[in-house]
Amino acid sequence: MKITNICCIGAGYVGGPTMAVIAHKCPDIKVTIVDLNAERIAAWNDENTDNLPVYEPGLDQIVLSARGRNLFFSTDVEKAIDEAQMIFISVNTPTKTYGLGKGKAADLKYIELCARQIAAVAKDDKIVVEKSTLPVRTAEAVKNILDSTGNGVKFQILSNPEFLAEGTAVEDLLNPDRVLIGGDTDAEGQAAINALVDVYANWIPKERILTTNVWSSELSKLTANAFLAQRVSSINAMSELCEKTGADVNEVARAIGMDSRIGPKFLKSSVGFGGSCFQKDILNLVYIAKSYGLDEVADYWEQVIIMNDHQKRRFAANIVKTLYNTVSGKKITFLGWAFKKDTNDTRESAAIYVADDLLHEQANIAVFDPKVEETTIFRDLDYLATRKPEENKAGVTVYQDPYEACRGTHAIAVLTEWDEFKGYDWQKIYDNMKKPAFVFDGRNVLNGKELKEIGFIFTGVGKAY
Ligand code: NAD
Ligand code: UGA
Repeated sequence: MKITNICCIGAGYVGGPTMAVIAHKCPDIKVTIVDLNAERIAAWNDENTDNLPVYEPGLDQIVLSARGRNLFFSTDVEKAIDEAQMIFISVNTPTKTYGLGKGKAADLKYIELCARQIAAVAKDDKIVVEKSTLPVRTAEAVKNILDSTGNGVKFQILSNPEFLAEGTAVEDLLNPDRVLIGGDTDAEGQAAINALVDVYANWIPKERILTTNVWSSELSKLTANAFLAQRVSSINAMSELCEKTGADVNEVARAIGMDSRIGPKFLKSSVGFGGSCFQKDILNLVYIAKSYGLDEVADYWEQVIIMNDHQKRRFAANIVKTLYNTVSGKKITFLGWAFKKDTNDTRESAAIYVADDLLHEQANIAVFDPKVEETTIFRDLDYLATRKPEENKAGVTVYQDPYEACRGTHAIAVLTEWDEFKGYDWQKIYDNMKKPAFVFDGRNVLNGKELKEIGFIFTGVGKAY
């Protein structure tokens, strides 16, 4: 079957960029991205691409190239489902906050709603593609719901997990290491797989398009994220040992990374990983393993999260300890709030947890982030529900200018590795700070030697200074 009409449910960080790239690369396919969130859809349709709801380098150009031609954003979910041959489900799958599996299992209510809506609307056969990250065997539940109408419409379920990383989404989508497609092993399943392979083959070499059974594909996505997060926790565990022993974590990472079996990527020690997925997906993996009675498997992966929580907490504790055991009433400046550079996404960012710890210590926090809005910062803190919103408002001030954020401050903490931080006039910042002037570089991006020469008391991660 040749695909000419695609619908994607969910216009978020994955649905938006992924479908924009498909539309950009496949001018013969009409791609409609739908969402219940009318504000988000309006932002995707905004004439001014600065207002797109997702910031990703290069995304504005991709959207402009296809929007109105074969790329459409709409709130009319039913119409888009009805017209499409292939429907991607790209809705959020957060950690459950209630009931059975609370705090660990993935909340699949949005997925189920999509399946029910597709079942209710579809009048002809459809290929339904799981783009969201899902627990292994979700396709079974989706199929049960779709097949329950008894109206003769046939559905094929594919798993096509997304491996893009935020900040490099466009580059990752244009030039992925691989695309993974899982489907049924029978003839209809294979035909559905081939239809999706043909879409990607418009710009991705066939040898990088991997096909498997559905369960392998679903589980590979959780596995990939667990392995990636595990590398960060592994190097972060070593960073603490480096600080005690005089080893330098950057040197250790370089030395082990040159072993081709280990490889150099994803070995940057930090204040801890954030982002919407690593923690959620590992907790989900832990929950799945436990549900099969695999306690050792569950405990093994849970340790990755325990280590990450420790890394965030000890960064905050080190600030308090270094500032003579009290930050009460002291201005502490955060450079960066996003969970990594080149994104406006702050979900699970380490900055939120470090700020929360320092607010417990009665610090006055000043925040500057080049892409994150003030409302987002307060929403993140309020979501923790550790204190009243008025108290967060009283304890945190958001600045539009980094030099103002640093004026009169006792200490600067780098929470995100934005490139621009390296180019600041650090002498000017030093001159306007309280003395002694402290810098805690949670990303190891600043030049510690130069900053020490200026007069700063400098600490990075994983190195005794
Ligand atoms: P997101 O929250 O940014 O977007 C999800 C969107 O789905 C929201 O706009 C929401 O309004 C919409 N939605 C929810 N239910 C709906 C419904 N019934 N009908 C229509 N719209 C509905 O989430 P995201 O970051 O794009 O993640 C989506 C999925 O992709 C998750 O499973 C995530 O684990 C996975 N994933 C995310 C990334 C990433 O970098 N963010 C990367 C790979 C995979
Ligand atoms: C991650 C994966 O890299 C993607 O392949 C996956 O598709 C995605 O999760 C997902 O499923 O959501 P993302 O979270 O966007 O992508 O960004 P990463 O580059 O993986 O960074 C995650 C966190 O780890 C960030 O806070 C980052 O600063 C931190 N990190 C990463 C380190 O501290 N050190 C490193 O060496 C690498």
